[in-house]
Amino acid sequence: MNIATNNGLAVILGGGNGIGEATARLMQARGWQTAIADKDAEAADRVATDLGATGFEVDISSEASVAALASQVETTLGPVSALVVAAAVFQDIVPTEDLETEVWERILHTNLTGSFLANRIFGKAMLARRRGSIVNIASIAALGSMPAEAYGTSKAAVVHMTQNFAGEWGRSGIRVNAVSPGSTLVSRVARRLQTGRYASDPGDFTALGRIVQPNEVAEAIEFLASERASAITGVNLVVDAGWQVASTWSQFGGVRPAREPE
Ligand SMILES: NC(=O)c1ccc[n+]([C@@H]2O[C@H](COP(=O)([O-])OP(=O)(O)OC[C@H]3O[C@@H](n4cnc5c(N)ncnc54)[C@H](O)[C@@H]3O)[C@@H](O)[C@H]2O)c1
Repeated sequence: MNIATNNGLAVILGGGNGIGEATARLMQARGWQTAIADKDAEAADRVATDLGATGFEVDISSEASVAALASQVETTLGPVSALVVAAAVFQDIVPTEDLETEVWERILHTNLTGSFLANRIFGKAMLARRRGSIVNIASIAALGSMPAEAYGTSKAAVVHMTQNFAGEWGRSGIRVNAVSPGSTLVSRVARRLQTGRYASDPGDFTALGRIVQPNEVAEAIEFLASERASAITGVNLVVDAGWQVASTWSQFGGVRPAREPE
């Protein structure tokens, strides 16, 4: 789809893999200049080289690292129009009573504090220019109960933080939105599926009867980052193939199977 060109510079945190990588590829194709930053510097460089973009190393859980990235990007590439925060860490399924404090704190620190640092540091530079757009990646784990206690809590807080920042910065020209993907077929998830780490196929529990593809999440992210979403701020756009609407059908035996053509 050919939409807008000259969208400006987008920084994608966690752009070396998965949804972040798909977003970097889509944004570059849509006329954005992209800066791809990841803790996995090799992955960031691989994607950047592929796109003719610039790769950076960053650890979003470190204030010094995020601040260094913001200044490095601004010095080498210029002012940032859009920030996408797709970096996150995940948790293994364990009974809540056995969840270690260290795991809880590490996940909260990276996913929540890391998102806060990125929003605050890049947002401050956007405020100075009274222009910018931020998209935080949350999750359907923020919206329902599932065995991802620390991860889900971190993502619910990211949605709340997004709403707060959107309210506070709107009149200064900054939009802040969230995207909550459902189970999305990135290579990390594909590996889990192959090794039987899910009890069943996540696609079985969606209205559309399938898992989400990374580029489908990237479409929502790029839309919210762009001027096409100029009146949208503070929303949490769910991209879940209908997981939310299907979940309440379980007591009726699940969503209706496809109708046979007449
Ligand atoms: N894939 C899914 O099913 C799914 C579902 C809901 C939400 N999400 C969210 O989407 C986003 C992307 O997830 P994904 O599935 O593409 O994962 P992924 O593992 O494929 O990519 C995540 C990237 O973040 C990077 N990263 C991790 N910690 C970092 C840190 N401290 N600093 C900088 N980079 C760091 C990793 O190196 C990796 O490149 C995450 O916020 C995740 O919570 C994913």
